[in-house]
Amino acid sequence: MEAPRKLSVAIIGAGVAGLAAAVGLKDHPDIEYQVYERAGRLEEIGASIALGPNGLRTLERLGVVNALDNSIAFRNRSGFPMIYRHWRTNEITSVDSHHDDVERRHRTARFYRADLQKALLAHVPSEKIQLKKAFASATANSSTNSVTVSFEDGSSVNADVLLGADGIRSAVRRYFVPGSGPKWTGWVAFRSVFDVKLLEDLDDAILNEANHWWGPDRTFFASRLGNGLFTIVGGHYSDPDAPDAPYRGATWNSDGDVNEMRQYYKDWHPVIRRMVDASPYTRQYPNTAASALDRWSFCHGRATLAGDAAHAHGGTLAAGGSLAIDDGYAFAAALWHVFPPGSTHRATYDFKRALSLYERVRKLRTDRVISTVHAGNKATISRIRAGKEETDDQLRERVKNRSDPFWIHEHDVQAVFAKAVAEEIELNSPAAKF
Ligand SMILES: Cc1cc2nc3c(=O)[nH]c(=O)nc-3n(C[C@H](O)[C@H](O)[C@H](O)COP(=O)(O)OP(=O)(O)OC[C@H]3O[C@@H](n4cnc5c(N)ncnc54)[C@H](O)[C@@H]3O)c2cc1C
Ligand SMILES: *[C@@H]1O[C@H](CO)[C@@H](O)[C@H](O)[C@H]1NC(C)=O
Ligand SMILES: *[C@@H]1O[C@H](CO)[C@@H](O)[C@H](O)[C@H]1NC(C)=O
Ligand SMILES: *[C@@H]1O[C@H](CO)[C@@H](O)[C@H](O)[C@H]1NC(C)=O
Repeated sequence: MEAPRKLSVAIIGAGVAGLAAAVGLKDHPDIEYQVYERAGRLEEIGASIALGPNGLRTLERLGVVNALDNSIAFRNRSGFPMIYRHWRTNEITSVDSHHDDVERRHRTARFYRADLQKALLAHVPSEKIQLKKAFASATANSSTNSVTVSFEDGSSVNADVLLGADGIRSAVRRYFVPGSGPKWTGWVAFRSVFDVKLLEDLDDAILNEANHWWGPDRTFFASRLGNGLFTIVGGHYSDPDAPDAPYRGATWNSDGDVNEMRQYYKDWHPVIRRMVDASPYTRQYPNTAASALDRWSFCHGRATLAGDAAHAHGGTLAAGGSLAIDDGYAFAAALWHVFPPGSTHRATYDFKRALSLYERVRKLRTDRVISTVHAGNKATISRIRAGKEETDDQLRERVKNRSDPFWIHEHDVQAVFAKAVAEEIELNSPAAKF
């Protein structure tokens, strides 16, 4: 007898979310997946990326333990995920702490983004990733009872399930929800990554920690990364609606002017000037964000989104990497749950059920992240519009009053998934019908 056809999953985007989903599905004997990536090469750009305990624990569950290795994952010397400092005096004004009992290997780690990408790619066979495949459209195909996914090169494939994991400017998202693209938040990051040896003379408290200096109208972040690297990130904020806002229209990952950056921090504490002086270059990254979507399920319950495509909140709170990993995990877990190995029955309802389980596990949470990010952005913009000089006391108050992101970073997606499954069983039990 012929074996039943495998359930096929088309993943759009070989970023963090898409690769996490692929890793989550790869051992399922009855599911086959294919990743479609727009880029021609998986050569990485991008600077640093932070993962909190949530993302690190999930990577471990997915078997991506190589990503937790100290060689590529840098963890702070003090045990604090972030230390806040005063822009002029350099004194510590506040710290973020781990709340739960977080094991050392799960403590917030900072990576050179390419290293994290490589760690994930080590678990996905290269023949599972098709390059130069830019998503164009997806339609429910009633004759094959599947989704027909078309690419910009004119080719198309049929799949049972489509996962749009194509990042913040997601074409999949814009296809299903026109007009949902992200907008500039007024923040531009100036980033660079260089050899930590260029800063060898600096204090251990700077070299072996993640520090965030807040000034009245700008910020500066610096941290060691894995692999002997160091990153600095300058933050410039303006009113995104002001026609004359500096850096309006700046292109993501374009060349910046490091001398301009030196000028920008010339009145700041010497330790910051020392780091900007050491930086061989800088690149610009305008930050964008969009509103939460009403739903994540499209194409009659055959298509969904993950990562920045599902919740485009931008770089604020450095949460994007871990949320993408948790999304990928939850998506794969939902398919494993509804279509366990050996199950041959695949009703239309089962696909709806799997994607709705995934959405229940992830959407409320990421909606809350988006509203926290938007509230913060709004507060920044109204401070800029008020145009009042902030006193030193007000600045210190603002640092202390910042929203504590531990509820994002110490979330346990596996526990929430188990709870959602338990609720589903309760809803469907015979007792629930009475
Ligand atoms: C090049 C790059 C550099 C980044 N640098 C940083 C950084 O320095 N610090 C930081 O905190 N965050 C950075 N981010 C964002 C961060 O990586 C994400 O927040 C997080 O990884 C979420 O992952 P994701 O999988 O949702 O999206 P991403 O990691 O952005 O992955 C999306 C993938 O989809 C592909 N894609 C896009 N459009 C299409 C299409 N139409 N068809 C097919 N494939 C498509 C992209 O090429 C990409 O590989 C960067 C993202 C990118 C793409
Ligand atoms: C991170 O902090 C812990 C706790 O203080 C310390 O033991 C560890 O060595 C630090 N890690 C690194 C890489 O500095
Ligand atoms: C449905 O799939 C079949 C088989 O791949 C294909 O020939 C047809 O064009 C598809 N229909 C639509 C509406 O995409
Ligand atoms: C502190 O934060 C809350 C909510 O985030 C805000 O409503 C309040 O105005 C802030 N207070 C100060 C002094 O910044």
